[in-house]
Amino acid sequence: MNPLEISAEEFRRLAELASGAAGSYLSELPDAPAFPQTSGEATLAAFDQPLPQEGMGAEALVAIADVFRHSRPPSPRFFGYVFGSGDPVGAVGDLLASVLNQNVTAWRSAPAAVTIERVVVGWLAEAIGCPGFVGSLCGGGSSANLMGLAMAREAHAAANEDGARPAVIYASTEVHMSIAKAVALLGIGRRNLRLIAVDEGFRMVPKALRSAIQADRERGMLPLAIVASAGTVNTGSIDPLSEIAAIAREHHLWLHVDGAYGVLAAITIPEKFSGLAEADSLSLDPHKWLYQPVDCGCLLFRDPAAARAAFAHTGEYARSLSQNPVEGFAFFEESVELSRRFRALKLWLALRYHGLHAFRAAVRQDLDHARLLARRISQTPEMELLAPVELSAVCFRHRAASNPDAFNAAVLRRVIQRGRVYISNASIRGQFALRACIVNHRSTDEDVLAIVDEVLAAGREVGARSV
Ligand SMILES: Cc1ncc(COP(=O)(O)O)c(C=O)c1O
Repeated sequence: MNPLEISAEEFRRLAELASGAAGSYLSELPDAPAFPQTSGEATLAAFDQPLPQEGMGAEALVAIADVFRHSRPPSPRFFGYVFGSGDPVGAVGDLLASVLNQNVTAWRSAPAAVTIERVVVGWLAEAIGCPGFVGSLCGGGSSANLMGLAMAREAHAAANEDGARPAVIYASTEVHMSIAKAVALLGIGRRNLRLIAVDEGFRMVPKALRSAIQADRERGMLPLAIVASAGTVNTGSIDPLSEIAAIAREHHLWLHVDGAYGVLAAITIPEKFSGLAEADSLSLDPHKWLYQPVDCGCLLFRDPAAARAAFAHTGEYARSLSQNPVEGFAFFEESVELSRRFRALKLWLALRYHGLHAFRAAVRQDLDHARLLARRISQTPEMELLAPVELSAVCFRHRAASNPDAFNAAVLRRVIQRGRVYISNASIRGQFALRACIVNHRSTDEDVLAIVDEVLAAGREVGARSV
């Protein structure tokens, strides 16, 4: 027998151990700290061990307890960055996807998985009001943004054969860093990313966009694409999509919408996203606001031919032999990836298990929680809001008699050390802001309001002289 072979019974035993540990972990989440008691030294002590030459069998699983102990838990009081809370139904999907070990390259390699991914992508498009859009799942919003802009470049300044030439991409000053990264990787050059001014609600100003395009044309530059944000990473602001789409049409530019954070809120508040369906491509992240375990990003686009123009370069060994639209379909002709995991299984299971209405309600609850938190902050004399709350990101700070940036940075460190809630930070008009982003199906009102208590307690500890 091959030394790697294990019996089906042994697998069942391991899976039972794992599901027992996972079940206990989930049951302890409500009381778990929002950040573990750990340090760099402690994680090295736990895990920096010699490569095992001899196997230890099921004993190997014992150390999983250490992995749990040194991990940041998906706590009901986790509000950092933009990070979904991890639906356990999705986790079951991930386990099964790994057991099935499908390589979701093309229908002939993974008939069920490819079909399910295409169906689920269609469901996502329909759920956010973009019926007819197609696309694929990927590692996250950064990959989706890169692929969307690769499509834009091939459509308007083809580079695949002869290399990239100077062209200009427009986005607001609030755009996520993954766009600057994509622009660099695509050889367009970060200097050719024009950052357009925003209004008091942190939304791109269409007039400034139009002037920038005009100015570039006059200088002989080639305007290529506009990236509109539907949920900026800092404040959750939504750029005026319809107006931006009209400018894109008028100037024959590609419109990519970065909806990695916000677009899935369109399942609950579609009215805030009017104009979304006018995009040529858009990114969204089920591992953020559909609560799925990482990784699960998605790129949607209107025209599969544009995806094939950007990504199809099929070696002879992978060429499809079927003309059948189902059996001949290959994701690798519409994506940067070749080998791909069965990401769609968790989404398919979770959507079937809970139903879209349950996700709508969960997003509604996050939106309500953000408003609740904002209200409590404005009623708290020691604190102030720093930005309007458009979706579920709340930017605020503790008032300080002097040097509010340094004071709030110290407060943040202290809040995280205290371990009851986890929040992160943002820069709002150059000011250091505390930031809570609520995309957490486990949070209660009490969990959300604990943010205020914890910031006040940390402020006292840091030695605030509150105003
Ligand atoms: C607006 C926006 N775009 C893109 C990304 C990148 O997404 P990912 O972390 O899935 O690569 C993020 C992440 O927070 C985001 O908020």
